[in-house]
Amino acid sequence: MPPPRPTRILLGVSGGIAAYKAAELIRLLRAEGVELRVVMTAAAQAFITPLSLQALAGGEVRCDLLDPRAEAGMDHIELARWAELVLVVPATADLMARLAAGLADDLLTTLILATTAPVVLAPAMNHRMWRHPATQHNAALLAARGVRLLGPAEGDQACGESGPGRLLEPAEILARILRRPQGPLAGRRALVTAGPTREPIDPVRYLSNRSSGRMGYAVAAALAGRGSRVVLVSGPTALGPPAGVERIAVETALEMQAAVLERVATCDLFVGAAAVADYRVADPAPEKLKKGAAELGLRLVRNPDILGEVAALARPPFTLGFAAETERLEEHARAKLAAKGVDMIAANRVGGETGGFEREENALLVLWRGGRRVLPLCPKPLLAESLVDLLEERFGAQAASQDP
Ligand code: CTP
Repeated sequence: MPPPRPTRILLGVSGGIAAYKAAELIRLLRAEGVELRVVMTAAAQAFITPLSLQALAGGEVRCDLLDPRAEAGMDHIELARWAELVLVVPATADLMARLAAGLADDLLTTLILATTAPVVLAPAMNHRMWRHPATQHNAALLAARGVRLLGPAEGDQACGESGPGRLLEPAEILARILRRPQGPLAGRRALVTAGPTREPIDPVRYLSNRSSGRMGYAVAAALAGRGSRVVLVSGPTALGPPAGVERIAVETALEMQAAVLERVATCDLFVGAAAVADYRVADPAPEKLKKGAAELGLRLVRNPDILGEVAALARPPFTLGFAAETERLEEHARAKLAAKGVDMIAANRVGGETGGFEREENALLVLWRGGRRVLPLCPKPLLAESLVDLLEERFGAQAASQDP
C-alpha cells in the first residue's frame, strides 16, 4: 500500500544557507493541518533562530539531546515514536554523512536512528559538495536503506555558482510528501522485478551476475512515491525493501517467472529491471559436486524471457524493460523494443565509464515507439525519479488514448 498522508511530521533543520526556507515550509505544512515538531542542529541555529521557527510552528523547537527540561516532557525516544514522518529540510552534506555512518551525536541524528517512521531528506549544498563521491556514496547508501531523497534541484546557488545542489522549493517539497492521489500512476498496481537471479549448479554453487538490484529498487520506491501499489519481485540483493513496497523474494529465473505470472494479470504496469539469467543449468546436481576430472562441462538450457512473456499477454500491462549493452546502444535497444513488444525500454551501457552494474550512478537512453530521451548520469535514486516521470508521461498518454 502507498504510505498514507502523514499528519504528525518531525521536521529536522540542518545548517545550510537554505535553512531559511524551512520557515516557509513550516507555514505551508501548518496550513495543511499537519502537526509539527521541529528539531534544529547546532549549525542550523547559525542561519535561522529557534525563536523564528517556534513562532511559525506553534510549538517548542528542540536543539539539544541532553536537555533535562525538554527530556522531562516528551523524551527523544517518545518524540521518535510520535513522528509519522521525519523530514529534514535542508539536509547538508555533513548531516547525510553522519546519517550514513549511523552516528547519534546530536538530537536529530539520534531521532533518525531511533524512529521507525519513513525518513525523507531534501539535500541542499554547493554543487561540488553534492557531486563529491563521498556525498554521492552517502546518498546512495541512505537511499538503499529506504531513505527518500527529494532533489536537489539544479540552478543558481547562493555561492554564485550554478549546478545541482539547490533545495527544492518548499511548495514542491510539500507537494511530494503530501502527494495527492492525482497523477496517472496513483492507485495503479505496479509489478517490478529487480536484482540478479541465481541458477543452481549443485546445492552450494550457482551461476549469477553482477546486478546489485539498486535500479529496480529505486524505481519501485519512486512508483510508491507516486501512489502506486507496488509489488517488487526480487532476486537476492543486499538491499532493504523500500518503504510502502511489498517484496517477494525469489532466487531462480523460474521462481521469478512464477511470481510474476501469478500477479501480472491484475497489474497496470510492469517494470522488468531484473538481470535475469538467460540460461540455467539443465540438471543441477542433487549433491555437492566433487572435483575429479581436469575439465567439467555444464549443460545450459534457455530460461523463459519474463519481460517478453508479459508483453505478449492478451491484455498486457504497460511494460518497461531495460537493456544492458556494451556496444551500439541505441540500435540494440530499438531492436529489443520491437522484438519483445514492450512499450518503453531504458538502455544503459555496461562495462564502460558511464555506470551500470554494481555502481551507484547510471545514465539511461529511454526509447519508445516514435520517441527517445536521454537521462544523464546521476545517482540511481534520482535517475529512477526521472525515469518514473517519463513513465508517468507515456503511461498517462496511453491511458488517455484508450479512454472511450
Ligand atoms: N529479461 C527477462 N527475462 C529474461 C531475460 C531478460 O525478463 N530471461 C528482461 C530484463 O529484466 C530486461 C530485459 O529483459 O528488462 C533485457 O534484458 P537483457 O539481458 O539486456 O536482454 P536480453 O533480451 O536477454 O538480450 P541479450 O542478452 O541477447 O542482450
